[in-house]
Amino acid sequence: MCGIVGYVGSKQAEPFLIDGLTKLEYRGYDSAGIAVIDNDKIDLEKCVGRLDALKAKIKGHEPKGVIGIGHTRWATHGGPSDVNAHPHLDCKGDFAVVHNGIIENYMQLKEKLIEKGHKFLSETDTEVVAHLLEELYDGDFETAVREVLKRIEGSYSLLFMSRRDPDKLICTKKDNPLIIGLGDGENFIASDIPAIIGYTRRNYIINDGEIAVVKKDSIWITNQDGLPVTKKVFEVNWNAEAAEKGGYEHFMLKEIHEQPKAVRDTVMPRIAKDNLSVILNELKWNKEYLDSFHKIFIVACGTAYHAGLVGKYYIEKLARIPVEVDIASEFRYRSPIIDEHTLVIVISQSGETIDTLAALKETKRLGAKTLAITNVVGSSIARDADEVIYTWAGPEIAVASTKAYTTQLVTVFLLAMYMAGIKKCISPERTKQLLTQLRKLPDQIDRTLEDPEPIKTFAKKYGFNEDVFFIGRSLDYDVALEGALKLKEISYIHAEAYAAGELKHGTLALIIEGVPVIALATQKSVYEKTISNIKEIKARDAIVIGITSESNDTLVKCVDHVIKVPNTDELLIPLLTVVPLQLLAYYAAITRGCDVDKPRNLAKSVTVE
Ligand code: F6R
Repeated sequence: MCGIVGYVGSKQAEPFLIDGLTKLEYRGYDSAGIAVIDNDKIDLEKCVGRLDALKAKIKGHEPKGVIGIGHTRWATHGGPSDVNAHPHLDCKGDFAVVHNGIIENYMQLKEKLIEKGHKFLSETDTEVVAHLLEELYDGDFETAVREVLKRIEGSYSLLFMSRRDPDKLICTKKDNPLIIGLGDGENFIASDIPAIIGYTRRNYIINDGEIAVVKKDSIWITNQDGLPVTKKVFEVNWNAEAAEKGGYEHFMLKEIHEQPKAVRDTVMPRIAKDNLSVILNELKWNKEYLDSFHKIFIVACGTAYHAGLVGKYYIEKLARIPVEVDIASEFRYRSPIIDEHTLVIVISQSGETIDTLAALKETKRLGAKTLAITNVVGSSIARDADEVIYTWAGPEIAVASTKAYTTQLVTVFLLAMYMAGIKKCISPERTKQLLTQLRKLPDQIDRTLEDPEPIKTFAKKYGFNEDVFFIGRSLDYDVALEGALKLKEISYIHAEAYAAGELKHGTLALIIEGVPVIALATQKSVYEKTISNIKEIKARDAIVIGITSESNDTLVKCVDHVIKVPNTDELLIPLLTVVPLQLLAYYAAITRGCDVDKPRNLAKSVTVE
């Protein structure tokens, strides 16, 4: 995954390219580069490291020109290095290319090009595209691009520039995102909206196979067969500040604090005024349609997978339909039993995760009905699924997902309630009770955020431990998994989540004096059992931090510290217990001096398998 940007207009291209790349750094940040056409010559600047390294490199001699392209990289083929950074040029320096994705047949193409005398500078798959363009160019830039596309296999968003045709950029995509921002006498190209929201709100979202020829005052889009495509303008309705840090030290902290609003935006329009039903206008389901499903699969990755685990609990408990939850990267390869009687729900914040997208495509091929829960309007997953429910979390920039997770939880909850309503397997009283509680959640999340001091203290006290364990039963276990993932990914502390009852089957051997264990204990039906497991841990002199609801006054007797969250229905409590876990991960990362928003080795949107 990488970020790409392009500019064509009358102003200098470089300031936009650098600014746009800054907004896209979450897509990859191991090297960066820009190329601008300056007096019929391509001026290329690129280097390994964060964008700051590139800024420092070009300071005082910024490339000049009114057309240019840029790239921020997350290495796949060829490690992070100056030469592997994009843009890539052909031998003659006629063409420059930036790419997000993987050219799967690049080795075969490269061998043939080398036989023809092409000299390669990098180990990347992308450089092949620049050389291929040179090889196939016969006086017409667009025709040459089309010829290149006939020969490459894989996934890409690609942006091409030619000094032989210095008034246009050409871009195209397959399985990777690409948008064109419509300016006045200038146009912008980017992988994602944050790059261009400060310049224009009006965009074209490019679909797979479309090719756009972008000049300063025109945009010509055609499909694979060369036929013109008419596009609707997509107006972005969130503001530029929403894509910035808004006064917080890190995007992650800002996004944690945005959860009350994100949950409110996602939930409120979907609850009937009398709290007696869920309104999902996106879906037109009826009992017959729901009864046609023998099984539901929820497929996702990482944090979204953890939301899926909670979704299984909700759907099975409320709507009484069997659900299997699968990790997207495993799903396709285990011959899942799927047919037209299967509903597949994919969950993805970005809507671009390639593993999830591939699983979605495969299930469609097998005849399943598909529903996407995603945060990004117009994303690949949103467009590929039969139906979509959007989470209204707004842009999530920090690599560690927080507000996307909580909005995913409320969305699967709404979906389960919607299904239960159709199947009439929930009483009006219970519906009202749950939806009344749901309405209170945004304010309750706000309350859990009010006083982070105790969590900061724990983070300082235990932040240098190398191992931390999380335990819980039932829904608490699902939240424990998410808490452990958050801690691992941003603080680099080794964290493991266990179903509390499973501890004694092996992991208890690791519980020794002083090891911190975070124990979630909110679920009444398994509460006593969880307490027994906590006692087993305390008997080994570990430090236990318990998490429970406000009204619980027994947990405090058997743990070292307690964090309490507001009382709510135990089905909804994951929305509250996850918040201190997010904060704990955040402050532990700060204690250890980690780069919270850009943890090592990770990137926000994982568009490679
Ligand atoms: C962890 C995290 C990842 C993502 C995963 C799926 O904090 O953010 O585990 O949840 O990469 O991403 P999406 O939801 O965009 O498909």
